[in-house]
Amino acid sequence: MEKLVAFSSFLLLLQYYVISSSAMTQSNISTDQLALLSLKSQIISDPFHFLDESWSRAMSVCHWVGVTCGSRHQRVRILNLSNMDLMGIIPGELGNLTFLVSLDLGSNNFHGNLPQEMTHLHRLKFLDLSFNSFSGEVPSWFVFLHQLQVLNLGNNSFTGSIPSLFSNMSTLETLNMNFNSIEGQIPKVIGSLINLRVLKLRGNKLKGSIPLSLSNASRLETLDLSYNSLHGNIPEGIGNLHNMNSLVIQFNQLMGSIPSTIFNISRIEFIAFTGNSLSGSLPNGLCNGIPILKGLYLSYNKLYRHMPTSLSNCSQLQILSYRKMSLMDQYKVKLED
Ligand SMILES: *[C@@H]1O[C@H](CO)[C@@H](O)[C@H](O)[C@H]1NC(C)=O
Ligand SMILES: *[C@@H]1O[C@H](CO)[C@@H](O)[C@H](O)[C@H]1NC(C)=O
Ligand SMILES: *[C@@H]1O[C@H](CO)[C@@H](O)[C@H](O)[C@H]1NC(C)=O
Ligand SMILES: *[C@@H]1O[C@H](CO)[C@@H](O)[C@H](O)[C@H]1NC(C)=O
Ligand SMILES: *[C@@H]1O[C@H](CO)[C@@H](O)[C@H](O)[C@H]1NC(C)=O
Ligand SMILES: *[C@@H]1O[C@H](CO)[C@@H](O)[C@H](O)[C@H]1NC(C)=O
Ligand SMILES: *[C@@H]1O[C@H](CO)[C@@H](O)[C@H](O)[C@H]1NC(C)=O
Ligand SMILES: *[C@@H]1O[C@H](CO)[C@@H](O)[C@H](O)[C@H]1NC(C)=O
Repeated sequence: MEKLVAFSSFLLLLQYYVISSSAMTQSNISTDQLALLSLKSQIISDPFHFLDESWSRAMSVCHWVGVTCGSRHQRVRILNLSNMDLMGIIPGELGNLTFLVSLDLGSNNFHGNLPQEMTHLHRLKFLDLSFNSFSGEVPSWFVFLHQLQVLNLGNNSFTGSIPSLFSNMSTLETLNMNFNSIEGQIPKVIGSLINLRVLKLRGNKLKGSIPLSLSNASRLETLDLSYNSLHGNIPEGIGNLHNMNSLVIQFNQLMGSIPSTIFNISRIEFIAFTGNSLSGSLPNGLCNGIPILKGLYLSYNKLYRHMPTSLSNCSQLQILSYRKMSLMDQYKVKLED
């Protein structure tokens, strides 16, 4: 029943999307100006007077602080208001900036829900909303942004689960949802994001196991699933991710042994599994397949502790943390959490 309701509201949204985008064909730079003035009107604090002074009708929109227009259409292509200490909400009118390719609102104090009208930003490739106080469920309508390559929602207060529709965002290269309150499982189909290079879900409330399909995301370079409640084994298929550079899954409840295939990913520089319940021992040939390893973090597991004979072959190794979990340590780890 719940699923049915969710699906029909999704269809409504779809209808809305089709109707309103056809009504938007007669837009020009004045549309962009109105959209930006509407955003300005929702900003209740601008302590450094970034917008106060420059965002006025007396000046051409293309010269406003943080605004860059395209040379061909003379429409707003880039909006970068990052790190300005702005406080406010995002009005639906922002969706009228239909020529926008890059939107960076990172490191401000924006709050509230993201307006659905943002689905009209169909040229958007880069969206950074990190380090704000946005809330509400992670919108599934991001899937309508058919060109999106970077989606950064890190350090906000998003809730709900990762929409399984996200697996349709085939152009996505970076998905960062670090430090939110996202629950549920990582969608089983996440591995169909074949262009994904960076997946960061650190510091949420994710449960379940690591999806086997991840082994299909063959471009993956950075994976960080630390500080969640993930169970089960590390899938063997992770070892097929030949482009992996940084594999970080600390402080979860992973069990079983570390798949030996991981020690054959020749590009890997960081392997961090601290604070799980991994068991077994490390292969003696550990360093022979991972020549550029710089950091190996394995403390607080149930691993059989011995030093692989090949360690001298990890010539770039800077940090090896391999501490045993004592009762006192367990206590400390809890405190650090
Ligand atoms: C934009 O379009 C509106 C009507 O659609 C028109 O009145 C206005 O003059 C146009 N502005 C520019 C700058 O072309
Ligand atoms: C936005 O501007 C900041 C500061 O100038 C810069 O560090 C950041 O990379 C810019 N964002 C984008 C998407 O270019
Ligand atoms: C901008 O968006 C609003 C609400 O999303 C809409 O009602 C309005 O007609 C749009 N304005 C222009 C100038 O396109
Ligand atoms: C991001 O969130 C985490 C967890 O709440 C916090 O430890 C960290 O300091 C935050 N980062 C910034 C720059 O606010
Ligand atoms: C998602 O992808 C599936 C399979 O390719 C397709 O059938 C479905 O229509 C897509 N949904 C949306 C909302 O794009
Ligand atoms: C990986 O992709 C192939 C081809 O699309 C598919 O048949 C297979 O089931 C996928 N594997 C996993 C583990 O999802
Ligand atoms: C690692 O790679 C080598 C050479 O490609 C291969 O012989 C070996 O079987 C691989 N080991 C594992 C555990 O996959
Ligand atoms: C270190 O690597 C070399 C070259 O691959 C290999 O011949 C040697 O056996 C390795 N040493 C150890 C201790 O595994």
